[in-house]
Amino acid sequence: MKLSRRVLNMSPSPTMAITSKAKELKAKGVDVIGFGAGEPDFDTPYHIKEAAKEAIDMGFTKYTPPAGIPELRRAVADKLERENGISYEPEQVVITDGAKQALFNLMLSVVDEGDEVIIPAPYWVTYPEQVKFAGGRPVFVETKEIKGFALTLEELKPAVTSKTKMVILCTPHNPTGSVIPKEELQRIGEFCAERGILIASDECYEYLTYDGFKHTSIASLSEEIKAVTVTINALSKAFSMTGWRVGYAAGPKEIIDAMIKINSQSISNVNSIAQKAAVAALTKPKDFLKEWLEAFDQRRRYMVETLNSIPGVSCLMPKGAFYAFPNVKELLKLGNFKDDWALAEFLLSEAKIAVVPGSAFGYPGYLRLSYATSMENIEEGLRRFKEAVERRLNG
Ligand SMILES: Cc1ncc(COP(=O)(O)O)c(C=O)c1O
Repeated sequence: MKLSRRVLNMSPSPTMAITSKAKELKAKGVDVIGFGAGEPDFDTPYHIKEAAKEAIDMGFTKYTPPAGIPELRRAVADKLERENGISYEPEQVVITDGAKQALFNLMLSVVDEGDEVIIPAPYWVTYPEQVKFAGGRPVFVETKEIKGFALTLEELKPAVTSKTKMVILCTPHNPTGSVIPKEELQRIGEFCAERGILIASDECYEYLTYDGFKHTSIASLSEEIKAVTVTINALSKAFSMTGWRVGYAAGPKEIIDAMIKINSQSISNVNSIAQKAAVAALTKPKDFLKEWLEAFDQRRRYMVETLNSIPGVSCLMPKGAFYAFPNVKELLKLGNFKDDWALAEFLLSEAKIAVVPGSAFGYPGYLRLSYATSMENIEEGLRRFKEAVERRLNG
């Protein structure tokens, strides 16, 4: 059977492949420590699970509207007003199968053959693949390590052409942990609003910021910016609900209606039980977050400090999310590695640790390590990293 050009042109997610490989090895009894996964190691909070159990017991197990249950759309609109300072009507909200499907529906709703979508690099692996799938052309803008990998308007401007349809912003950022400051978001937002360029604002890691850095939602900065922005978020990272698959998008009604139409002809609706759980997550206090953030912060500091003690490795302190993105260019030279893929393979076979090479995020010469794993794993995994490198360099 000949597969479609569209699907043949799509690459599978490398982060998911590396995580699966690590899990496979583990199942075979190999003691692998995984730094690949982008999911918190905490359990979903108890009151959220209780809401799901209640939904099952109440028989809330049927189709829901493709846009999501009214109660959840209202809870999202209230949350965006209360926490992010953006006022949307519930009709401007669509509930999706995680943030990934929100982005997917957005691409299919607005991108036409030949349209250009600007993606700052390094980038989350899914963005370019979804743009291509929709018929668009990803245009990459390299952010700079020296500026903490946070996109600036000066970097964005030269990439804009008459074909530019959209720019994808992700702050706090995967894979670098950068946070775009409010003033820069304002400048980028005003520039896009003046030119009618759509902004997809992926805010999945909004709660995870450190050292006093604060997340700003770009749509909150002016009515003009809001009019060209689709705000995307999910419960996956914030509430440790990666497997539940609940996300959402909020934005101009015309775009949201198109995304709902796609839901109606594809997934029908997000799981009814998970939607009830999401209402509890968004409307009840988030006392658990403080403890999670403290744990992430402690792991972040330990990981960055230890990475910086490994020969040939230098790592910036991430301001948000739960990833470290060390520069390993010097190590590649010292250890005679062909590239960052070769280094990642070496670390998997020699140190039994799974990391993702920067090349997977369009940024060779780096690695991504997630610190959404226990402190014990981080200590042991980095000890092995350091030892394997020292053996290679001294042996
Ligand atoms: C930046 C970013 N956006 C979106 C997602 C997808 O989230 P979800 O699991 O809600 O689809 C991820 C997950 O890794 C991510 O890192």
